[in-house]
Amino acid sequence: MHWHILGAGAIGCLWAGILSRAGQDVTLILRNRHTLDQWPTPGRLDILQAGTCHSVDCHLETLAADTTITHLLVATKAYDTLSAIEAIQPRLSPDAEVVLLQNGMGQQQAVHAYLPTHPLWAATTTAGAWREARHRVHCVSLGDTHIGALSAATSYLPAGWADMDIPLQHCTDIYPHLWRKLAINCAINPLTALFDCHNGKLLTHPERKQKMYAACHEVERVAAAAGITLFSTSLTDQATTVATATAANVSSMLADVRHQRRTEIEQITGFLCQQAQALGIEVPVNRSLLQQIRALGPNEGAH
Ligand SMILES: NC(=O)c1ccc[n+]([C@@H]2O[C@H](COP(=O)([O-])OP(=O)(O)OC[C@H]3O[C@@H](n4cnc5c(N)ncnc54)[C@H](OP(=O)(O)O)[C@@H]3O)[C@@H](O)[C@H]2O)c1
Repeated sequence: MHWHILGAGAIGCLWAGILSRAGQDVTLILRNRHTLDQWPTPGRLDILQAGTCHSVDCHLETLAADTTITHLLVATKAYDTLSAIEAIQPRLSPDAEVVLLQNGMGQQQAVHAYLPTHPLWAATTTAGAWREARHRVHCVSLGDTHIGALSAATSYLPAGWADMDIPLQHCTDIYPHLWRKLAINCAINPLTALFDCHNGKLLTHPERKQKMYAACHEVERVAAAAGITLFSTSLTDQATTVATATAANVSSMLADVRHQRRTEIEQITGFLCQQAQALGIEVPVNRSLLQQIRALGPNEGAH
């Protein structure tokens, strides 16, 4: 099978390695010629994990190429997902399989509406990766990945995914899993970005911990009203466990704020606030977090 990857960042390149090891032919789709020219050896991707470097050979293309795409993994940031797919849509074969792999929510529903007849999956992962250079990615952890269908025309797993050597769980309903990741992200990401602190430092300061707990209580009420069972224990317990296990980590939102990049706040806390409004639930703590992150920078424009 031939997989194209749209969004050749940390997660896209990590998955290029995973798919390649599973025997798939992989093409990374880059924005333009300038990005393609930044690769020192065309198509050679280095993935570093636990002190070992695995090199993978993939094909490189730009968005403007005209080859037909039969299997597409989208690993852009959540806010880029729909526009990136719109740009590539003329190249999709009528029955092209499409997998969305992002944090946040809202983009899955938007892509489903845009590609109603395609076999479409959403996946969520706790894997961790960061990019040292275009062609060089560090895998911090392979984590756990959940995947499930968004459209009726979808089979069990996308082609070739059963051969991946990572912890992968098929879900008959992916939405509760997307909500669980969203709930943890709502609890941890905005607060770490606002307090400019590592995840673990949310627990060692009473004011931060109290805000985290308050945000969690609101998220639980919205999820329950939406008919979603989050966890078997409370979200405060789950968020505390995650913040403890990742105490030394810089959350992706904090990293984005520090580098003055756009964050995924609209697809995380923004989605939560939209759901709350539709369900008639007040979420003042989360709404305040949303406003404060929006106010942080010029790149928080598109809402
Ligand atoms: N990194 C992690 O450890 C991790 C873990 C779990 C989940 N996630 C989630 O996975 C998603 C991807 O995260 P990431 O860390 O891999 O982000 P990233 O490193 O910023 O990669 C995103 C990539 O998408 C590319 N892109 C965006 N729009 C495009 C377009 N129209 N055409 C072509 N390429 C386009 C960007 O290209 P340019 O570089 O040219 O802008 C960038 O290379 C996010 O939702 C994130 O929250 C990440």
